[in-house]
Amino acid sequence: MHSGAASQGHPRASWLGPRQTMLEVFIALLSCVVRCIRAFVMEVIIQPSQEAASLLAAKMIASLVRRKPAAVLGLATGSTPLGLYRELARMHREEGLDFQRATTFNLDEYVGLAPGHPASYHHFMRENLFRHINVAPENTHIPDGLSCDIPATCEAYEASIRAAGGIDLQILGIGSDGHIGFNEPASSLASRTRIKTLTPRTRADNAPFFAQGEEVPHHVITMGIGTILETRQVLLLGFGLKKAEALAAAIEGPVSPMVPASALHFHPRAHVILDEAAATRLERTDYYRHVFDNKPVWQKQ
Ligand code: GLP
Repeated sequence: MHSGAASQGHPRASWLGPRQTMLEVFIALLSCVVRCIRAFVMEVIIQPSQEAASLLAAKMIASLVRRKPAAVLGLATGSTPLGLYRELARMHREEGLDFQRATTFNLDEYVGLAPGHPASYHHFMRENLFRHINVAPENTHIPDGLSCDIPATCEAYEASIRAAGGIDLQILGIGSDGHIGFNEPASSLASRTRIKTLTPRTRADNAPFFAQGEEVPHHVITMGIGTILETRQVLLLGFGLKKAEALAAAIEGPVSPMVPASALHFHPRAHVILDEAAATRLERTDYYRHVFDNKPVWQKQ
């Protein structure tokens, strides 16, 4: 015996399943459309200052950690995320933001630097975030720059990201040449964690983090662009005039391995948070502000 509309005399499309009503199919199609709209969004958010941008990024991370205490966070180094890390530390101290069950994976590390080296990313993360929050040390991961078998270390790093269930939210800065992580221009858009050779420009940009006269390493281990594209959400932060050109190329230029950050157009959920100075080379700032100011409620979640 048949149930539903057809048995009550209503015509029924032949492709409907025995238990599907037109309304159910309509709802399924609608949610599919909504999912499609959600997919492949690069949201450009311009904030009045670096501080405001850092606070906004911290709020997005805090909201994830409150919703999902065992969140897997992808972390970045450099001067860009410093304000964000300071705010996360404050939220932990003053508001009880709890990182006890969180797991972290850093993007990269210099080859040849011991974790205790003041310019190593192990040291950077310890000093600027980890010692100020309650993340369990065994849940923090940074590529091993002293590895004697770099390909095996890189493969194991990818495996541990997979074992953790993938990265929920990845923080990124951008190099003045458009790199993300240490994926220098001409990196494969499908690349995985591997060794990279730094360009002279990146070595010069990062020299201030090293003691005077000390050589910046030529080699690094970095998550690949393919690895970054698999994360569930990305927050790319860019501050200051020095980043304006790279950000314009990444956001409004063509997708190209020559501008690694442009690959984020293939990311399902990428947010780019800029201060005014970093937005000066963009052409469509009015539109980005309009989109942000008129965001539908369901997109704010
Ligand atoms: C290094 C890091 C990147 C970072 C970039 C920008 O190359 N590997 O992850 O985004 O520096 O650094 P800064 O934020 O200091 O400008």
